[in-house]
Formats: sequence, structure tokens, C-alpha cells
Amino acid sequence: MLFALALLPLALLLSVGCAYKDISDESLQKLPGPGNDFNIKTGALLAPILRPRVSGTEGNAAVRQHFIDFFHASLPEWRLELHNSSSTTPVSNGKEVPFVNLIATRDPPGVHEGDVSRLALVAHYDSKYTPEGFIGATDSAAPCAMIMHVARSLDAALTRKWRSADMDDFDVEHKGLQILFLDGEEAFKSWTDDDSLYGARALAGDWESTFHTASSIYRTPLDSIELFLLLDLLGSARPRVPSYFKTTHWAYKHMAKAEARLRNMGLMKSSPNHASKVAKRENKKLRVEPEFLPEGNKPDGAFIGGFVQDDHVPFMARGVEVLHMIPSPFPRVWHEMTDDGEHLDTDTVEDWAKLVMAFTAEWMELEGHLDFKAEKRKESTEKSEFIIP
Ligand SMILES: *[C@@H]1O[C@H](CO)[C@@H](O)[C@H](O)[C@H]1NC(C)=O
Ligand SMILES: [Zn+2]
Repeated sequence: MLFALALLPLALLLSVGCAYKDISDESLQKLPGPGNDFNIKTGALLAPILRPRVSGTEGNAAVRQHFIDFFHASLPEWRLELHNSSSTTPVSNGKEVPFVNLIATRDPPGVHEGDVSRLALVAHYDSKYTPEGFIGATDSAAPCAMIMHVARSLDAALTRKWRSADMDDFDVEHKGLQILFLDGEEAFKSWTDDDSLYGARALAGDWESTFHTASSIYRTPLDSIELFLLLDLLGSARPRVPSYFKTTHWAYKHMAKAEARLRNMGLMKSSPNHASKVAKRENKKLRVEPEFLPEGNKPDGAFIGGFVQDDHVPFMARGVEVLHMIPSPFPRVWHEMTDDGEHLDTDTVEDWAKLVMAFTAEWMELEGHLDFKAEKRKESTEKSEFIIP
């Protein structure tokens, strides 16, 4: 008890120390798009994920290899780990099915592993067992591709920042970025506590008892996760994501603010007021601007505790703070054969990537280190001049 009390002031100090700095309009303007990489047939990031990838199958291993190849080729500074577990499932006839989570981590150089607090970008990469041939483009192929694009776009800025950093700035030097591509999210038969979240349950359970060395600031890899940002069911047109959790509403508000700024600057391609859309229609009058995150002003009393069962559950049960980017209602294609590449709204996929990139850049305090010259991909050059009324 005494020990716990003694620790309290340090914990408080650390959470207060968590800075979050808006990036400039100029940086928002320059956030790189994916070029052709989200193309559903030929896109280097997305196309290889758009195949059945049920846990334990060849497709699942091939998609995992796609991630590994990507990190080796594009993000060599990231530490890769595979977290393995196995379990029987209701359809495996007593056989153990392997579940393999991919964990990629980029920490500041020279900092002890137990002293880094991380923003975790999370999505599941397995696909649903039924219907046969199910692709799961929003569930969660597109979110995986978004995370890959965000990581590679900000990687050089992290390097620059840490190279230039004032080593005395605790906050700057102790923030890392982590990617969790989780396996076995989907139920094989029907969703129960035992038939779902196979990879997430195994990882959260193992990390709970994986202890950093005694003098570490954070006790376990779970404690090191400052925010678990879970993307799921994203990529259909006109999503609406509520703020699910009171304790992370402040982070939701940051994301909503980034969205509003991107919209005001005409940078959201899926907006009916984007220059490319307005140019294509007769009536040039501005339309109502949609919002992916409409609950920035949700009052405290409105959090009634409803949430969606997903990979965050075993983490949240162990005290990890979660920001869940999943639309409500779910996309119309949810768990249907039509959740395929053809039914993605590519503009919306790009917009989500841009929004998550802006949020991540702000979280990691990358203003002043963003320089996207090397990131120039072939982009349509159209830019919107419209300001949202
Ligand atoms: C985990 O599983 C992968 C894929 O089956 C395998 O390549 C790897 O060697 C395993 N790692 C460990 C530590 O068992
Ligand atoms: Zn699903």
C-alpha cells in the first residue's frame, strides 16, 4: 500500500507531462497521400491484403509476410516481433490453430525499453472464416494499409526529431510509436468470449506478466501503451465514429479538431466540397460538410458506457486507455461478401489515413521535423480553395 502511494505522484507527473502539439496549417497541407498504393488491384500497400486471410491459413501467412517485407524494405529502424499463440476453435475439430500477432516498435534511440511510453496503432489482419472467400476490405485490410502508410510517412520525421532533440526534454525522448497487427479477431462460428479476439487475448495476457527491469518507469509493455488507437471497419463512404470512452475523450477531441482543420483547408478528398467533386457538378453551391468524428462536443454526462466488442477489450480490461475508431452504424457491407475492394470508397480510405497521420504527427510532436520531399508520390495536384461555412 505504501509502495503504491509513493508511486502515485510520479504517475501523475507523467500523465500531466503528456504534451500534444497541433501541427501547422502548412504541415497539414503537405501530409503525403498514398499515391497509387491504396489501389485495390495494383496498390503496393493495400492490394496484397485484399485476399482471404483466415487465421492459420496460407493467405494469413502471406499477408503477414507482406507486412514483414514492408518493414524490412521501408522501415528498417523498426523492431519486429511475432507473438505466437494457439487455440482450438469451434470449427478446428480439436486441432490447435496458430495465431500470430505482428508487433512493430520504433523507440527513441538509447532509451531503456521500460522507460518509453507509446502510441499504439492497432488493426486486425485476419479475415472471417465465413462466408467462404470473404475479403474484409474494411475489416480490416484498409485500416492495416492506412497504418503502414502513416508509419512510413512519419518515419523520417521521427529520425530527424530524435537526432535534433534536446536530450533533457523528457517528453520528447520517451515517446515511441508501435504498430500492432493482430491475428484472430474474428469469431470462427459465432461471437463468444472464447470464440473471438484470439490474438488480442493472448497478447494482452502475456504482456500483463512480461515485466520490464525493476527500475523501469513502466512495469510492463501494457503499461507502456499510453493510447491504444484501434482502427476497424473503416473505408466505406460516410462513416460516423462516436466517442466511446470518457477517459479518452480528450484524444477524440484532438482527432476531431484535426479533422475540422483538414476539412476547412479543403484537404478531405471524400468531402462533397472538395475541389475535385465541385468541379464535376453543375451546381457549385457548397453542400453540408460531413464529419467522421461528430462528437467532439459530447458532454461528460452523455457517456452511457456502450461500446463495441473488439480487439481493445482484453487490453482495456487491464487498464490500457483506448481510442476506438469504428463507425456506428457499421458499414452496410459488414460481414458480407460485398466487403471487398470494389466496395471501398478510396477517397474515404485516403482521408482516414491523412487524419490518423495528422493525429500521430501531433502526438509525436513532429512539427518542425516534417519534410515530405522524399515522400512525394504521384498525386493529383488539385487543391480545394473552399472554406467551409
Ligand atoms: C512464430 O510463428 C511464426 C509463423 O508461424 C514462425 O515463423 C516463428 O518462428 C514463430 N516464432 C516463435 C518465437 O516461435
Ligand atoms: Zn469482422
